[in-house]
Amino acid sequence: MNPGLPETLKWEGGKLHLLDQRILPHQQSYLTIETMQDAWQAINTLAVRGAPAIGVAAGFALTQAMLTSSEPSQKEIEQTAKYLKSARPTAVNLSWAVDRLVESWIESPSTETLEREALAIYHEDLAICQNIGKHGADLIQSNQGVLTHCNAGSLAVSRLGTATAPMYEQHSRGVPFRVYADETRPLYQGARLTAWELDQAGIDVTLICDNMAATTMASGKIDLALVGTDRVTRNGDVINKIGTLNVAILCKHFGIPFYVACPSSTFDRNTDSGQKVPIEQRDKQEVLGDHAATVKVLNPAFDITPAALVTGIITEKGITPAAGIADFLAS
Ligand code: MRU
Repeated sequence: MNPGLPETLKWEGGKLHLLDQRILPHQQSYLTIETMQDAWQAINTLAVRGAPAIGVAAGFALTQAMLTSSEPSQKEIEQTAKYLKSARPTAVNLSWAVDRLVESWIESPSTETLEREALAIYHEDLAICQNIGKHGADLIQSNQGVLTHCNAGSLAVSRLGTATAPMYEQHSRGVPFRVYADETRPLYQGARLTAWELDQAGIDVTLICDNMAATTMASGKIDLALVGTDRVTRNGDVINKIGTLNVAILCKHFGIPFYVACPSSTFDRNTDSGQKVPIEQRDKQEVLGDHAATVKVLNPAFDITPAALVTGIITEKGITPAAGIADFLAS
């Protein structure tokens, strides 16, 4: 199910085509990737975005690089992999997908192997989202209000989404509920992408400014917060779109459960805590827009929500407390 939405990406004739999310929802148009510089730019400028989707895209881009190389070699694939990973530093899915392709090349150095592996990552992503949807669906009860932040939806994966998968599942079962989508400054993924995609699917969605979350919770409209993540560290810290920490703190204050949904590939077993994760700092113009350009600006793309504020993490394997995620995924 891709609720009336265009595909996030397409792999056709050995080329990657990306739905350009920078201009959604006003225009639906695909970028054709011709070079690795195109792929790097597309990831860096958020033409394709969302942790799982950039992993899937990078897998196809790496395959394309080797298909078009005159002399594909281990050295070349490793160099291209390093280059693609540098496009965005925070989401662990990017390096996870690229490393998986490099390993498959080392085991069996052929472009057929690479293409098979990239397609496998793409198809696994859909199955994973379906399972996240099934495990998380019952958290949303009839007539409840759910707050979400940024876009962890269909557009952030190959299909269906992570935080939105339980919503799509409950909607398909006929359970009525309301979603409140934070607009998500400065790039408005909530307003442009989440509100649009849920509305397309016929889900009752209300757009709010980020600074309305507290009053919306205080008025009793929110029963649950459900967000995605770019990385979960060994201690259960959650790194997600800037503003997620605000939502988690508010949930603690109002006694609202705060859940995070992600594939197990978002779990970073090599990093102890969120404090050690590189947080992407983006151009100040994204915050300034048309305002005066002389002031200093902060523009971190992500923040770190401590495990203690997370009620649970929904993965394709089930729901676990954040602090126990390492053992849960190892079992
Ligand atoms: O900067 P973005 O738009 O790539 O940020 C995306 C998010 O923060 C999502 O919540 C996260 O990647 C999970 S997507 C399933």
